[in-house]
Formats: sequence, structure tokens, C-alpha cells
Amino acid sequence: MMKIVSGNSNRPLAEAICSYLNLPITKAVVKRFNDMEVFVEIQENVRGQDMFIIQSTSFPTNDHLMELLIITDALRRASAKRITAVIPYFGYARQDRKPGPRTPISAKLVSNLITHAGADRVLTIDLHAGQIQGFFDIPTDNLFSGPVFVRDIKQHMDIANTVVVSPDIGGVVRARALAKRLDTPLAIVDKRRERAGESEVMNIIGSVDGKSCILIDDIVDSGGTLCNAAEALLAQGAKDVTAYITHGVLSGGAVSRITNSKLKNLVITDSIQPTEAVKVARNIRVIPIASLLGEAIGRTSREESVSSLFE
Ligand code: R5P
Repeated sequence: MMKIVSGNSNRPLAEAICSYLNLPITKAVVKRFNDMEVFVEIQENVRGQDMFIIQSTSFPTNDHLMELLIITDALRRASAKRITAVIPYFGYARQDRKPGPRTPISAKLVSNLITHAGADRVLTIDLHAGQIQGFFDIPTDNLFSGPVFVRDIKQHMDIANTVVVSPDIGGVVRARALAKRLDTPLAIVDKRRERAGESEVMNIIGSVDGKSCILIDDIVDSGGTLCNAAEALLAQGAKDVTAYITHGVLSGGAVSRITNSKLKNLVITDSIQPTEAVKVARNIRVIPIASLLGEAIGRTSREESVSSLFE
């Protein structure tokens, strides 16, 4: 039987997934001792069960990662049949290569920790780079928020006059996939620093003049990439700019940077639990992904295809 356990990173999302699956959330305590050590107690029998842990490794990243590892350990020692780590937002994913000598590949280290703690599978959404799946030697499903975004875009925008834009060269594959689903043209923001010490130049590849632009990305953290891309597009004659970004990390002053920008709208999912500031921001809207995750969890448990969700 399938059961869902939640860490503390995004309990509302875990509850929404449970309601989609028509399941009660498994009774468990996930708390801190006075010195902030994590303590976990699963308060019902899970012997022989198909367990799914819902936990984004979002801020505070290390605490939420430790919760995930310790819940996994608790379930393994309680004789769960199979443990799937459902990590809607996989923190550390951006550290997926050595940017310089004597630097770590932290995404690989975190993958090892999750595997060694006892996870049998991983389920996530819009991994920063698809290849990170290969950091795990256990089955890893990487879902796409594309279909959820397409539905929302069709409800809120007139796609006849839109162009999908990648905010950097690294995001072109993701943007091309969305443009194909929407049947719109594609443009790319090409950020270049011609000479060391000179400021970056933003070249736009493709035509955006008079168009409504849809910027697509996996992560919005400081908001720098997004706001700079929006400025560059408007300077090239774009009519307006809306962004669809899966993971709203939104650290530091990101929310005020976005509300004070010329961005018409930023649409994010609730893969990371939105803060109060996000909820009241004039140009940020959060769309739910519980049904996508719930459907993928149900299919995993019934041993049905997950990829067919995206055909
Ligand atoms: C970078 O490769 C990612 O896809 C995002 O563009 C980046 O993490 C966004 O970060 P920030 O909002 O701080 O510019």
C-alpha cells in the first residue's frame, strides 16, 4: 500500500498531494532538539509499505536535507518495502560540475547521501540539468512543469502575439520545448562580457518587437537573470514580459526586485512553499503542482508509465 510522509519544507504541498490521492498523511513527528538536531518518529506501522517522502530541499536547505535523510533512515529501519524521495525542488542542483580547481560537485555528494540513506527512487520536477539524474544509481523520474504552464498560458495570454524566450543560452532546450508545445516562435537572450572588466552586453537572438514575451526558466533565485532579461527584451521593443519559472527560490531581496521591475507577471509553482511576501507581491502568481506530483506518485505506485503524462 502507498503512504505519504511529509518533512517540514512544504507541508501544504504534501497535504494537497494527499488530497489528490485521497490518502491521509502518515502520522509522524519531524522536530528539532534544543541544539537543532533533527528528530523523527514515524507514528504508524509502515512495514512492507510503498513510502513516498515529500520534501523540497529549499531554504533552510541543509536543515531540510537532513530531515529528508533522517526520515529515509527511519522508514528503512521500520522495514518499508520501497522508499521514494519526492524532492519537488532539488537544492544543490546548480553545483553540478567543478567551476574551478579544488571545488566540489555538491549535487553528486547530495545524490550519494540520499541514496546511502536508503532511498530506492527519486521523483523531482525540472531538474536544473537533466544529466543530474545520472548522479543517482537508482531510478529517477524528472517531471516537467511544461504542461501545467501551457494550460495556464492559454488561460491568461493571447498566444497569437507571443514569443517564448530563454533568458540564457543554458535554457534553450527548455524554451524550445515550450515554444513547440505552444506553437510560437523562440528568442534567446545571449549574455556576453566582451572583455574582462567591461559590463555584460545582452544580445537578443530572434525578433521580439511588438510581442508579448514569455521567459521560461527552472529557477528564480536573486531575480537578476530574470529582471535583466526583461529589461533587454523591453529595450528591443517587446510589448510586455511575463515569466514562467518552476522553482521560486526568491532569496534575499528578490521579491522586492521583481515587484519593482518592469516584469508584467512572474508565475511560479509551489514546489517551494511561498512566503507571505511572495503571496502578496503585486506581480507574482503561484500555481499548484500537487496534481502533477500526485498523478506521478500514483502511477509510480501502480507501476504505470510516468513519461506518458508528457506525451
Ligand atoms: C541558471 O542557470 C538558472 O537556470 C537560473 O537562471 C538562475 O539560477 C537564476 O538565478 P538568479 O535569479 O539569481 O539570477
